[in-house]
Amino acid sequence: MPRFSPDFLDELRARVRASDVIGRYVKLQKQGREWRGLSPFTNEKTPSFYVNDEKARYFDFSSGKNGDIIGFLMDNQKLTFVEAVTRLAESAGMEIPKDTPQELAREKQAKSVVEACAAAARFFSDSLQRIEGRKAREYMEMRRVLPALQTAFGIGYAPANRTALRDYLVNKGFLPELLVEAGLLIQPEAGGALFDRFRDRVMFPILDTRNRVIAFGGRALEKNVSAKYLNSPETPVFHKGHMLYNYRKARQVAADLPKETGQPLIVCEGYMDVIALTGAGFGHVVAPLGTALTEAHIELLWRACDEPILCFDGDPAGRKAAYRSVDRVLPLLKPGKSLRFAFLPEGQDPDDLVNDKGAAAFQDVMAGAQPLADVLWDRERDVRPLTTPERKAAFRSHLRELVRGIADKDVRAAYGSYFSEKLTANAPHLTSFRKSHGEFAKRPRFQPPLQASTALKSRRGTRTAASPNNAVSHREALLVLTLLNHPGLFERREQEILDLSLSDPSVFGLLRQIIERLTRDSSLDREGLARHIRQVANDAGALELLLKNQQLKLTKFASTTATLDEAEKGWLNTLSIHLHHGRLLAEEAEAAEEACLDETSEKRWRVAHNHRQSVVATGKDDTNDTAVSDTKVGNS
Ligand code: UTP
Ligand code: MN
Repeated sequence: MPRFSPDFLDELRARVRASDVIGRYVKLQKQGREWRGLSPFTNEKTPSFYVNDEKARYFDFSSGKNGDIIGFLMDNQKLTFVEAVTRLAESAGMEIPKDTPQELAREKQAKSVVEACAAAARFFSDSLQRIEGRKAREYMEMRRVLPALQTAFGIGYAPANRTALRDYLVNKGFLPELLVEAGLLIQPEAGGALFDRFRDRVMFPILDTRNRVIAFGGRALEKNVSAKYLNSPETPVFHKGHMLYNYRKARQVAADLPKETGQPLIVCEGYMDVIALTGAGFGHVVAPLGTALTEAHIELLWRACDEPILCFDGDPAGRKAAYRSVDRVLPLLKPGKSLRFAFLPEGQDPDDLVNDKGAAAFQDVMAGAQPLADVLWDRERDVRPLTTPERKAAFRSHLRELVRGIADKDVRAAYGSYFSEKLTANAPHLTSFRKSHGEFAKRPRFQPPLQASTALKSRRGTRTAASPNNAVSHREALLVLTLLNHPGLFERREQEILDLSLSDPSVFGLLRQIIERLTRDSSLDREGLARHIRQVANDAGALELLLKNQQLKLTKFASTTATLDEAEKGWLNTLSIHLHHGRLLAEEAEAAEEACLDETSEKRWRVAHNHRQSVVATGKDDTNDTAVSDTKVGNS
């Protein structure tokens, strides 16, 4: 009879979702974070049987029974323990451990490795308090990790001496070969004496879900060291791709948060981010261990919450990293399970942010986290600006391709219709474009300023109820920035400016304020205008985004160094593309309304046909549109 180790059973419970197993025998319905159904043990009429995937347990209030999936199968299906485990392991694709001598030896070795890690953790934390730990204590203080926080994370110090840990552990009776196995000592390839892997580093113990130290991360104290961070290698008990730093604690903290505020796990990049955020009151934070997020990581996150938030630097590299995670997660999506993405101010990690700007600043970033579907949409639009029919067709078919990659059919269908609607909702350019050449052409030159959202509603109907989080269209931003930097444009192009309609509510709000000010005093200079907008703007963030955006700055005609003539020429060019673009988008939307993303090929042909027609009808194409593309100004 096979004997199952605690590790094996843990792994089994981690791999198999409780609601999947129990759902085969009991009809379950999702209720909040749990599943509910009629007790299989009594004849109850109102459901009081609950399954909690995060706890991997069931609770039956009518019979008073509760337990894990193994217990459920034993009770409900009358299986023996071994039969239940075997059945579950087979469905999870896990090999049944055999009681071979090798297997027993392996298990014994794993146990010793864990013991060695525990002893090492004690040695490191003691060293931190000794004389040789002074530099490390000062370093931690400099990084604002106070002693209480150091203790909470079991932080320690690995002395600079090449054999400090080796001497200590060997003295305690640990075999040197085992310490190599545990990743604590290094065996020089050329032979010779074993020495400590971690030297002169601040040490972060890595705990598993059973609260055992199984590995370490170490941060160098000196600048000229080859690796800033060094992690334990893969060992019999440590597999980086399956571990998240601080997972056990974070899951507990998240579960204790009030349900109304959401209980997402926050995923950041490194040890110091996790520690700083915990110090700032965000204990529900984890980090991978110097690797990209793996499927196993995502499964771990989903066991703790529905929509974990991944934090990224707001710079291009951070965007890229976010996009890689998008690709990794798409095939794995399940009903209710997704990811959200939060982008930090450029060049800052969470540790920098909470230390510079405080916890509230980080809270703001979390509040602005974007849903996966929107990040995906933005990414596709960034690489395929919707400036020509061909690019738009490519955009649509590429989106469809990506949606096909979602394995779960319900989620796939939901994405299909979400993107269809989004294509439709992107049409208001046109509605207002047509109007501006009809009824709006006759409207009085000046309208009293409206709140941006009201203005949008009254002019375009409810379809534009765009979320304020939507990224700003680069082109629209360019039109407004040029005007901000060249107020003289207003006198020259007043009618076009008054007729201009934009889809982004915050940029449109800015435009209304600029118009209102310049209508009163068209001789106002750049500084005066900016000062005024700063004072009155109800969305100062939009102004700052415009002024600070690096991509916009690269556009010569919009910049402060351009002459008014250059600005005017560039602005008119952009305007014509904007108007043309608005029309194409609307046609796209009409087509999308009849043909969903999973349309038949006949309908698809019609969409392509419509595109061709529109190019023929307008006789122009904007493939020469280089400076102006649909990339985004901001990410929130
Ligand atoms: P970062 O280099 O982004 O640094 O490493 P950080 O977390 O901001 O560190 P501080 O603030 O300078 O102390 C992020 C994570 O990447 C892994 C570590 O897990 C680290 O926490 N890493 C980094 C390595 O594994 N090796 C390295 O050399 C650097
Ligand atoms: Mn940092």
